[in-house]
Amino acid sequence: MQESVQHLRWTESHMPLMADIRKEYEVKRPFAGLTIGVSLHLEIKTAVLLLTLVRGGASVVAVGNYGTTQDEIVDLLRDRGIDARGSGSDHRDEHLAAVRSVVESSPDLLLDNGADLYRLAVDLGVEVLGGTEETTSGQTRLQTELVDLVHVPVIVVNDSPLKAIVENKHAVGQSVYESICRLTNLQPQSRQMLVVGYGWCGRGIAHYARANGARVCVAEVDEIMALEAAVDGFRVGTVSSLIGECDLVITATGAPSVVDGEALSDVRDGTLLANAGHFDWEIDMPALDGMTVGTEELGNTIERHTLRDGRRVDVMARGRMVNLAGPRPKGNSIESMDLGFALQARSLERIVEVHDSLPLGAQPVPDDINRDLARRFVEAAQGRPLAQPPGDRSA
Ligand SMILES: NC(=O)c1ccc[n+]([C@@H]2O[C@H](COP(=O)([O-])OP(=O)(O)OC[C@H]3O[C@@H](n4cnc5c(N)ncnc54)[C@H](O)[C@@H]3O)[C@@H](O)[C@H]2O)c1
Repeated sequence: MQESVQHLRWTESHMPLMADIRKEYEVKRPFAGLTIGVSLHLEIKTAVLLLTLVRGGASVVAVGNYGTTQDEIVDLLRDRGIDARGSGSDHRDEHLAAVRSVVESSPDLLLDNGADLYRLAVDLGVEVLGGTEETTSGQTRLQTELVDLVHVPVIVVNDSPLKAIVENKHAVGQSVYESICRLTNLQPQSRQMLVVGYGWCGRGIAHYARANGARVCVAEVDEIMALEAAVDGFRVGTVSSLIGECDLVITATGAPSVVDGEALSDVRDGTLLANAGHFDWEIDMPALDGMTVGTEELGNTIERHTLRDGRRVDVMARGRMVNLAGPRPKGNSIESMDLGFALQARSLERIVEVHDSLPLGAQPVPDDINRDLARRFVEAAQGRPLAQPPGDRSA
């Protein structure tokens, strides 16, 4: 516990936006009397967010995402009065029961990561005022399977250009690259890497890897993103056309089975597979298991699959997010999560204030929140005020 407390203090000291919000909440108490149901990766930066919401008067009932919960953070949160549920060692059915129990606790607001809480609220008939969604994957669900079912405003934090730039591009690029190096203890120089998806996350991963000496190619299905990858200097193709040339494959699409059975049949001996996307479905693990005659655990979440013809395929964290996997994962940078969680806190406040007049369903972070936090982020990073633009928008 003492180590978690020290870690919390270090983290808080590098989250200036959240520190300002906490100070303000002590007076304003925007969530007084409200319960917030939360599904987020339970790690130290999330603890800062949840403790800030509590400072704003909220009761918080929280669950982690499957396989990424850090048990020492659950203990820390419980010690600080937050109802944190689940454990990193939970099997899928135990995890789903914990997610369900959060919705059954009748929250007033939801803060979701992948739209599992919204799905369950619909299925269980639990009414909320509205809430937020953290990820691209959750946004996709809200705009497809849940589009006619969620009748409350949901601000999609992932839609914010601030989050896309600071977290998805820069922080995910850094943390995925750093996690793979740390967990494998291998160096990137001279490796041939395939990044699947050239959206915000894929771009960051591809650029970080190339800047550190890897040879990188990109698989992308969207012609415009493929064009961008090509003019950024990456060779572009389909997964099947490129996978046989690569030592390391990283998926970052949000879509299922982007490395499917057909692509897996072309991997070369010794290929390492890792996923950065939200769900553990981007690498088709059932297909790989079906091709496998034997597996061996090699530590640090690496599982070696031996195929019928003797080729070996190594998979990190069984396709779960690699930057939250393994011993003592760090996730994305503190600075990026300071910004992302400030967007969360301000968006939840907005839902409380004006949920009756907001459009229903998924919607972007209001522009004034983006601009205010962008300004504060730059000012905190540079240690001096940012000049007001002509025709000051914040006036
Ligand atoms: N690991 C993390 O810390 C972290 C952080 C933020 C987001 N994410 C997750 O990463 C994933 C990607 O997020 P993003 O912001 O980059 O999304 P994005 O929408 O910007 O990019 C996804 C890209 O993948 C491409 N794509 C889809 N299917 C494909 C396929 N079959 N083959 C090749 N390309 C394909 C799309 O065309 C798109 O360009 C999401 O699941 C998101 O939730 C992870």
